[in-house]
Amino acid sequence: MRVMCVAAARPNFMKIAPIVAALDAGGHESILVHTGQHYDPAMSDVFFDELGLRAPDHHLGVGSGTHGEVTARVLVAFEQLLVDESPDLTVVVGDVNSTLACALASAKAGVPVAHVEAGLRSRDWAMPEEVNRVVVDRVSDLLFASSADAVVNLKDEGYRPDQVHLVGNVMIDTLRSNVERARERDVAARLGIEGRYGVVTLHRPSNVDDPDVFEPMIGALSEISADVPLIFPAHPRTVGRLAGLELPSTFVVVEPLGYLDMVGLLANAAIVLTDSGGIQEETSVLGVPCLTLRDNTERPITVDEGTNRVVGTRPEDIVLNAKLTLAEPPIPRCPALWDGRAAQRIVEVISAGLPTKRPTELP
Ligand code: UD1
Repeated sequence: MRVMCVAAARPNFMKIAPIVAALDAGGHESILVHTGQHYDPAMSDVFFDELGLRAPDHHLGVGSGTHGEVTARVLVAFEQLLVDESPDLTVVVGDVNSTLACALASAKAGVPVAHVEAGLRSRDWAMPEEVNRVVVDRVSDLLFASSADAVVNLKDEGYRPDQVHLVGNVMIDTLRSNVERARERDVAARLGIEGRYGVVTLHRPSNVDDPDVFEPMIGALSEISADVPLIFPAHPRTVGRLAGLELPSTFVVVEPLGYLDMVGLLANAAIVLTDSGGIQEETSVLGVPCLTLRDNTERPITVDEGTNRVVGTRPEDIVLNAKLTLAEPPIPRCPALWDGRAAQRIVEVISAGLPTKRPTELP
């Protein structure tokens, strides 16, 4: 089968890498497409280098813009690529704007779509990714879920059982094959931090774009850093928001890190405070306590069967939960099937054949 594999933004690269490898090993022809939604070397190239992902077969170079602009540019460029390549299947991962655009272009062109990480729901329509997740699932033929709760969501929404496959977590495939060499990188020491430390990441528009939300959060994190020094690899979106804010010397802001440095930093952390979805999953597998600075999560499995606590964005809640968690860390647990073999299961399903479209039975 000729399979379009879409990569686009930082969290996609580690998800698509094991799928491309498993497709190639399974005798399929993968066509790797980078939409260019993320383009800074630290947000893109470093992942290709470190994950051994080959250079994309096509780079659409769409760059940044509003949601509409990015989605539209990818939609137009990917539609043409479908004409040029006439693939048998498009595989999209995650929930970024490029995921939506490529799924939509494929569905309109009559190319079957497989969505990896299907069925996650935050039920928060103010979150752009939630819109993307729901629409991508709706136009997909094959829905690959990483956890049992996602399967329940899809069944509740009326998807047919033959479309839905619980395969595990491809991001964890990549984590498991890289964690040992990542641990050796001694990132904290390189950044001048000795002993126990925590890690912060914040980039969601709902947290960083409004100073009335962002600045009190930074105040809470500064307070926590008096107990445990915090390292904050800041996303480009967040860097601008930090300008002019006074931070204590125990709260260290650094450039975005490459994959291995980030995994190494997380693996050896005492606590992680984040609004990222992927980091909730990675910390669960690493057994590192995670506080999610949001009011909801589309990944409740990381709370039920991992090390995550969803604590909201109020400064007093963040400080209190950090103290409680440092005093009594959760016992590490790992969700079922997050065992490093998700991509292999996906390719087994794909190799068995695509479901026939039966539009009258679709939800
Ligand atoms: C996107 C995803 C989000 C994911 C995040 C990971 C959507 C809706 N959001 O958010 O789900 O968690 O990626 O990073 O797709 N920028 C750079 N260099 C880059 C890329 C972006 O400087 O290489 C800056 C630009 O100013 C850009 C801004 O970051 O406008 C936001 O980028 P964008 O891709 O729109 O969204 P993210 O916040 O990165």
